[in-house]
Amino acid sequence: MIKSSLKFAACLVATFFAAQASAEDYPSKVITLVVPFAAGGPSDTVARLTAQSMGTILKTQIIVENVGGAGGTLGAARVAQAKPDGYTLLVHHIGHATAPALYRKLAYDPIGDFEPVGLVNDGAMALIARKDFPAKDLKEMIAYAKANKEKMNVANAGVGSASHLCGMLLMSALNTEFVTVPYKGTGPAMNDLLGGQVDFMCDQTTNNASQIKAGKVKAYGMTTAKRVAAFPDIPTLSEAGLPNFTVTVWHAMYAPKGTPQPIVDKLSKALQEALKDATLKQRFADLGSEPVSQERATPQALRAHLKAEIDKWGPIIKKAGVFAD
Ligand code: MLT
Repeated sequence: MIKSSLKFAACLVATFFAAQASAEDYPSKVITLVVPFAAGGPSDTVARLTAQSMGTILKTQIIVENVGGAGGTLGAARVAQAKPDGYTLLVHHIGHATAPALYRKLAYDPIGDFEPVGLVNDGAMALIARKDFPAKDLKEMIAYAKANKEKMNVANAGVGSASHLCGMLLMSALNTEFVTVPYKGTGPAMNDLLGGQVDFMCDQTTNNASQIKAGKVKAYGMTTAKRVAAFPDIPTLSEAGLPNFTVTVWHAMYAPKGTPQPIVDKLSKALQEALKDATLKQRFADLGSEPVSQERATPQALRAHLKAEIDKWGPIIKKAGVFAD
């Protein structure tokens, strides 16, 4: 009995020092940052901007791997099953909190299968339409869409994506159903909106900012509680005719469960450092997005935020009666 306890204690001590050693020389190779949506979309943009800054701080290359599909759940599952060594990370958004209510057979536990690193940014969404959509403002857009609902094609990035959540809330607010067209990300969806193959979508400004500024799409309102500084002339949806219609899309970074805490802490400190970077802050601001404060870019803050968001969106989604599987 004593022999086996001593052996067990020796194993624990060896594991602890191995974790310490791996943390001390971490990172010693390229880090993979999984984005659970197609390249060219808003989550991809947020991840690449953050990866660039963090890579400089950690003095290593951080490469983005796009694993799209099923509203972000395929990419999240990829990281949940990855080796917990700090070399495979996830950047995901509000969809990590809505997935448990939407997917009854989710391949992972958004809390139990991940180590939270920290929140990254808060972003606005814009309700945008193809540029020849026959409505000059939100009220006309709603009237036209409801009168032609069986012909309206609304793009999103799959059930569980932010664009899906916003579209679902819009249909619930308007008490009507549109035809939804899912993509592996709103990057590809934007191509079809610009080409007129789909009519509208609710999408993060980190994806549509340049198209709005170039007049290539029509923007009917922002999902934020107050106007977005980069778009002072675009009303909020609440102002324009959908009272209290607010959805803020937050992104956060995670490591697989079991990643040694010293490595998680090193990643969180690098994330906090990156979010202070003036160039990164300006690039986010130009896209209508905002890096979170230092205290929110911590594992503790993300753990609390994720739980609160799961508790908030679960009942809303259940009331809407939407499931993905
Ligand atoms: C979404 O949730 O709609 C995604 O963020 C879209 C994307 O990043 O491609």
